[in-house]
Amino acid sequence: MRVLVTGGAGYVGAQAAWHLVEQGHRVWIYDDLSRGHAASVEGLPLIRASLDDRGSLQRVMNDQRIEAVMHFAAYALVAESMADPALYYRNNVLGSLALLEAMRVSGVGHLVFSSSCATYGHPDSVPISEDTVQNPVNPYGFTKLAMERAMDDFARAYGLSFVSLRYFNAAGGSAAGSRGEDHDPETHAIPIALLVALGRRERFMINGDDYPTPDGTCIRDYIHVDDLARAHEMALAQVEPGRGLFLNLGTGRGHSVRQVIEAARRVTGHAIPTEIADRRPGDPPELVADPTLAREVLGWEPQIPDLDHIIETAWLWHSKHPRGYANS
Ligand code: UFG
Repeated sequence: MRVLVTGGAGYVGAQAAWHLVEQGHRVWIYDDLSRGHAASVEGLPLIRASLDDRGSLQRVMNDQRIEAVMHFAAYALVAESMADPALYYRNNVLGSLALLEAMRVSGVGHLVFSSSCATYGHPDSVPISEDTVQNPVNPYGFTKLAMERAMDDFARAYGLSFVSLRYFNAAGGSAAGSRGEDHDPETHAIPIALLVALGRRERFMINGDDYPTPDGTCIRDYIHVDDLARAHEMALAQVEPGRGLFLNLGTGRGHSVRQVIEAARRVTGHAIPTEIADRRPGDPPELVADPTLAREVLGWEPQIPDLDHIIETAWLWHSKHPRGYANS
């Protein structure tokens, strides 16, 4: 298929774009490079433009006869969304609506959307299945839920077909260590633990150890970025006119922050000093996926479900690129 990948120079978007290419699809990257890295998609056609630029979106859809869109372009930091919700509603909601409208005008009816476990908020029980009540606890989660509702309405009224993939915690790097996480500032647990191992940060600050979990730290379901990329490509085959699907993407296994640090110590052989800090606003205690539906509908199964293995791939990226894409 001819696929437009918005946010395709971002962490998950770039991995998905290269996977699409490997599977024989043609891709166009659409990214404003405000957070993405052109180096991660070198060799692929890149349109540097804003998501709220409907004219530019329509032009590329028409000129390149785009058949489907994968929509990754979004801001995705919980704490930042708490501090600056306007930024999140503007980019993630207004920008995404511009994309939906451009697709409608250009007659592009297939969409694979990056959603998030953040739409569930503080679920009553884990693992979380897709019919769990969605009650976000931070603006980021609300922006993703707003777009899920908008896509549902566009499907009913205009025949849009979409698959909304609710990721749990994206992690890891590409097999050859050529692509991985590079955020500025970096706020995610695994890259920070590895930056401490590399000596680029002094210590790992644990955001609260008084949560109602066995060791007091938050539990997350870490899912390898390659597994996310594969699910996106599989989802392209599922899009049916006027129909929407919502699928969780996780391993079904949870790991606490302390377990992540232990795994990072095992993988790197470095000490990784820690300190207990306050809780981070907006953090739910435990998020673990029930990935049964994605297995049934897509035939998708994580191929790198083991946390140590996930961290090994991230370590390969960080040790080869200690300054991220800056020295690519
Ligand atoms: N953490 C620390 N110290 C750090 C960094 C993280 O203790 O220096 C903790 C966090 O507080 C959290 C856990 O490690 O409990 C995981 O944090 P991440 O920042 O790696 O990931 P989040 O769970 O906050 O965020 C991820 C995705 C978001 C998504 C969110 C849903 O990155 O896009 O899950 O909750 F919205």
